[in-house]
Amino acid sequence: MCGIVGYVGAKQAQSVVVEGLRRLEYRGYDSAGVALAHEGAVAWDKRAGKLANLEAALAESGLPESCTGIGHTRWATHGAPNDANAHPHLGEHRRLAVVHNGIIENFAQLRSELEDAGHVFLSETDTEIAAHLLELEVEAGHDLTVAMQNVCRRLEGAFTLVALDGQDPSRVVAARRNSPLVVGLGEGENFLGSDVAAFIEHTREALELGQDQVVTITAEGVEITGFDGTPAEGKQYHVDWDLTAAEKDGHDWFMRKEIFEQPRAVADSLLGRRDDAGLLKLDEMRLDDSELRDIDKIIIIAAGTSFYAGMVAKYAIEHWTRISVEVELASEFRYRDPILTHSTLVVAISQSGETADTLQAIRHARVQRSKVLAICNTNGSTIPRESDGVIYTHAGPEIGVASTKGYVTQLVAVYLLALYLAQVKGTLFGDEINTVMDQLDEMPEHIQTVLDQADQVYDFARSHVDTRSVLFLGRHAGYPVALEGALKLKELAYIHAEGFAAGELKHGPIALIDQGMPIFCIVPPRGRDQLHDKMLSGIQEVRARGAHTICLAEEDDETIAPYADALIRLPKVPVLLQPLVAVVPLQLFACELATAMGHDVDQPRNLAKSVTVE
Ligand code: AGP
Repeated sequence: MCGIVGYVGAKQAQSVVVEGLRRLEYRGYDSAGVALAHEGAVAWDKRAGKLANLEAALAESGLPESCTGIGHTRWATHGAPNDANAHPHLGEHRRLAVVHNGIIENFAQLRSELEDAGHVFLSETDTEIAAHLLELEVEAGHDLTVAMQNVCRRLEGAFTLVALDGQDPSRVVAARRNSPLVVGLGEGENFLGSDVAAFIEHTREALELGQDQVVTITAEGVEITGFDGTPAEGKQYHVDWDLTAAEKDGHDWFMRKEIFEQPRAVADSLLGRRDDAGLLKLDEMRLDDSELRDIDKIIIIAAGTSFYAGMVAKYAIEHWTRISVEVELASEFRYRDPILTHSTLVVAISQSGETADTLQAIRHARVQRSKVLAICNTNGSTIPRESDGVIYTHAGPEIGVASTKGYVTQLVAVYLLALYLAQVKGTLFGDEINTVMDQLDEMPEHIQTVLDQADQVYDFARSHVDTRSVLFLGRHAGYPVALEGALKLKELAYIHAEGFAAGELKHGPIALIDQGMPIFCIVPPRGRDQLHDKMLSGIQEVRARGAHTICLAEEDDETIAPYADALIRLPKVPVLLQPLVAVVPLQLFACELATAMGHDVDQPRNLAKSVTVE
């Protein structure tokens, strides 16, 4: 939620900041703004709507030259997405500018104190009080760093603040509590960003910040303190992807590019997971085998698409390890007083590593003395930093708001976790684990086979532009895939879409079906269980009621054809791994339908990539 950029160096800050905002726009796109330090004052511009509006305004009447700047792209919390509520916000005397991500929970009280003292506010935001408070501090003679420390001690809630003082162009000062912020380390220049994409074109050296810290960047260096002024250190790391990973590379959308990157992303997730003796290893995990052996319950917490990866995890972990698994929405978890003990392993799944609901849930779990393992795609983000261990998914940056390669690599990570637990607990033999690992190694090729049918899926999608409602049916590990297919369609095409466990349909939702309603049916592979045949009955039931069935079935499954109005062929894979291939046509369908409907696929309305407020 909200993208933030800060820069001090020798380049023109306006272009560095605007370019950074372009790369962060997926974090929020309700409005955008930039502020520069210029000749003892602040020069700024801000506009409602997408960054393009701000860029057009700057092209018409550019801001003066400056080497010190901050910028913001907004996902609105307090106040409508209009020009007045856009960031930056300025102090009473326009000496100081601030951009903010998060929610200042005690802003109403602070605002009324300031109003009583005669301050006039121009926006409905919680942010503006921070600008006024900081300006009071610098006007009282403090430098901006000390001002930030003093103000942060008065604020409650979650915030990243980045500020500049027009009268001190040598520095930009930022602070973070429960909200993302990283430092980019350059030569004769330094950067701040909500994530490394903000400065990836300038440097791949980054600095992780801790909780409740203030950071001051100048052209020459970086200084970190706690809110109380105590000196602190950041953790430096090298970003293992470059600018090309953050570009569309000839695709119309980042999402489409990321869908087609899935074979490589899955291969990268699997890389280096077996040692010379063929045993599974999870190097980053940091949890001892002895601790894992004691685990008697696993609770998976996550949100959105990551939650659906968690649902697949339950099937795999319980099947391979016989450890009981609960899957819980992060936003619900800590409010229901969950039963947690030291032998409960809490697994937090988060692509961004910054989702506020998930972060608060793992904090709650750790207070109850449970071990927390993160499955995360973003190096240096808060959730893995605050967990006991991490499995990184290595998908590379995911910029499309709708998660795709993030999801399939989360699936890989949960399979790896399940197999590792099976290895440690001895619930599978080594050769059984190796068989599944070999099957996983074949997955990039299988996903490519599905991608090769993209044109067929695009044709279906284009023929459904007038559709107002779509259902998705699955069983077993196909059920979470059905939920994920529906989520993709809701967030991109803005139409009614619902996923159901196929067996549950007749307990009510079947009443929704009317003539011609499209229903995606994810058909389980044929096996010893009855899943496949039960699904076949379900397909017949909905077809008998007029549904238009789009079936995803194994390549040589001829039993489905008579009941499928459209048939998408999936490679033959085991039922537990089928989500890796079955989700792909659903992603392609949502992407293409939204495109055909004229929607912005990468920036769907009302959404933001990482949800850093509760
Ligand atoms: C996915 O398409 C969504 N945009 C969203 O549901 C997302 O998966 C959710 O907000 C969780 O994000 P995280 O994985 O970064 O924690």
